[in-house]
Amino acid sequence: MTKKMRTVKVQFTWWWLQILAVQLTLIHAIPPAAPLQCQDGGAGGCTLFNSYGVWNDRRDCRVLNATYPKTEQELVSAVAYANKNKLKVKVVSKFSHTIPKLACPDGGGGGGGGRNSMLISTSEYGSGIEIDEAGLAVTVDAGVGLRQLIDAVEAAGLSLAASPYWEGVSVGGLISTGSHGSSWWGRGGAVHDHVTGVSLVVPAKPSEGYAKVVRIGEKDPLFNAARLSLGMLGVISKVTLSLERGFKRSITFNFSDDSQLEEIFMSHAKENEFGDITWYPSRHTAVYRYDNRVPLESAGDGSFDFLGFQANSILISKSTRAIEKSLENSRNAKGKCAMASTFIGAKKLIANGLKNGLIFTGYPVVGRQGKMQSSGSCLYSPSYRIDESCAWDPRIKGLSFYESTAIFPATKFADFIRDVKKLRDLNPDNFCGVDIYNGFLIRFIKASQAYLGQSADSVVVDFNYYRADDAATPRLNQDVWEEVEQMAFGKYGARPHWAKNRDAAFGGVKGKYSNLGKFVEAKRQLDPANLFSSGWSEGMIAGEAAAVAAKGEGCALEGRCVCSDDSHCSPAKGYLCKEGLVYQEARVCRYSSSSSFTSTV
Ligand SMILES: Cc1cc2nc3c(=O)[nH]c(=O)nc-3n(C[C@H](O)[C@H](O)[C@H](O)COP(=O)(O)OP(=O)(O)OC[C@H]3O[C@@H](n4cnc5c(N)ncnc54)[C@H](O)[C@@H]3O)c2cc1C
Ligand SMILES: *[C@@H]1O[C@H](CO)[C@@H](O)[C@H](O)[C@H]1NC(C)=O
Ligand SMILES: *[C@@H]1O[C@H](CO)[C@@H](O)[C@H](O)[C@H]1NC(C)=O
Repeated sequence: MTKKMRTVKVQFTWWWLQILAVQLTLIHAIPPAAPLQCQDGGAGGCTLFNSYGVWNDRRDCRVLNATYPKTEQELVSAVAYANKNKLKVKVVSKFSHTIPKLACPDGGGGGGGGRNSMLISTSEYGSGIEIDEAGLAVTVDAGVGLRQLIDAVEAAGLSLAASPYWEGVSVGGLISTGSHGSSWWGRGGAVHDHVTGVSLVVPAKPSEGYAKVVRIGEKDPLFNAARLSLGMLGVISKVTLSLERGFKRSITFNFSDDSQLEEIFMSHAKENEFGDITWYPSRHTAVYRYDNRVPLESAGDGSFDFLGFQANSILISKSTRAIEKSLENSRNAKGKCAMASTFIGAKKLIANGLKNGLIFTGYPVVGRQGKMQSSGSCLYSPSYRIDESCAWDPRIKGLSFYESTAIFPATKFADFIRDVKKLRDLNPDNFCGVDIYNGFLIRFIKASQAYLGQSADSVVVDFNYYRADDAATPRLNQDVWEEVEQMAFGKYGARPHWAKNRDAAFGGVKGKYSNLGKFVEAKRQLDPANLFSSGWSEGMIAGEAAAVAAKGEGCALEGRCVCSDDSHCSPAKGYLCKEGLVYQEARVCRYSSSSSFTSTV
């Protein structure tokens, strides 16, 4: 280890100890800003942001008008208003945590939005939660937040078996994008597979008052379209979810070697009801999460307060970003590796946020389902402090990252891992960038009948990595992430998560969903005038790569295209369009210090 690296490492360790100390004593944060900002009470138009404050194309989403219905009847009036006035319309929740521009309507604006568009926010439509204890079901208003739902269900002695790990989402929003936790057991890890009924507000004929409610149960022919609909069929007003008798879970993390990852993952999913795996490729480390249900009577009142979703000191978030930025600018891969090691060490020490009570004291950690599945303590606090927030809060200019998510049929996943390992073995340091975040998070989704869901038992991989402050700045080792993405979406035919990913990943989805035609048919039936379509959402479904990812100068730098010409990268900064190193069909932007160099390996 060089002296410079050691200094960096000491600094990181100090910061992390600070973070830990801070988190033991306070859980206070500034509340996130509302994602929908209207001027002059709406008369001046509105701008929609996602929770990161920046869309994939870095262009704002401007709309004419926004409305905040409080009841199902007001939802009907809002859709009727849009239909009567021929406005393009989309729904957005109070969270707006979806990365692609799915919730942005069309209406003349270049980046989506525009003069003939409006948004329906569900931020004030979130009070109804009706629990049917005997029937083990809950019917909930679409704007209700996941945490509010979980708490109500658990208070009735019941549990919702599947939900995303992040709780800052609405019920309507999360089912609309196929959000999931991790399980091949029972109904599986995706929430839409626990849905048993959906009420939709859809456009109607003038004689019907321009809008109406349709209630869709499990036997309805529209059911498999309605339970995962990307907001493209109408406004979801209510969702019925199936529940189970309350239960606890017992979780242990095994930080181990990654040598057998491709052989173990399948049995890991089969043997652990809620198992997942976090893979840190540069560190040759795989963290196996042994996670299974135990009876409600079992001792333990633990929780999983996932470290990445805890409140961070704004000062620390900013310094971390500053360090990452300077390592980027100085092309210091070793420095990134030191940062990754320190972070992973800290996560191991505190079990990544698992707590037996107030703190982590040892494995296994046993606790109620409602406290083990989803978290997001950076969002909720008794008294907000001005110096802490969720790490990605755009106002603090801290973290800025991309997320790639690839969903594989389980049968293809082992070969993908082998290919990534080959690429990693060429130079493990090139992979340190993702290991600063959460490495590769590997989760499991069971086969589903939903038209836009997974048709086979599947493995989902998320990986996050640095995003520069502006579109024209290339990133350290970006060729590696581009190659991994293209292996996933190209070579292995993986599907993107509807709510994540950069634009280019959506290019080929049409050919990957054999039931897409049935979804389009349901859409034609429910929304014949395409009120709920935008160029982006429509283009994605139609498989028009050009509509979702336009080629142009520098387009590959932000994942808006796959490069086919050097100009799609950044020749001026030494990034040229080159072949993949392991997957030769890949086309990636690779840095070379002189144009006669073709590889940095
Ligand atoms: C920090 C973080 C962690 C995450 N973790 C996970 C995870 O563990 N697993 C996972 O699968 N996903 C995860 N996600 C993704 C997240 O679950 C999805 O983006 C989810 O869709 C966000 O819900 P929302 O309420 O913010 O929806 P929005 O972003 O508001 O909307 C999402 C889509 O649903 C539509 N929509 C919203 N409400 C309605 C309605 N009432 N009727 C019709 N359409 C509607 C919108 O038009 C849009 O198309 C994470 C995201 C973040 C930011
Ligand atoms: C905004 O939409 C509402 C309907 O929800 C309508 O009553 C109102 O007049 C609209 N405002 C503008 C400025 O168009
Ligand atoms: C941890 O995982 C490795 C690899 O699967 C395994 O060999 C080892 O036995 C596990 N350790 C524990 C304590 O379960």
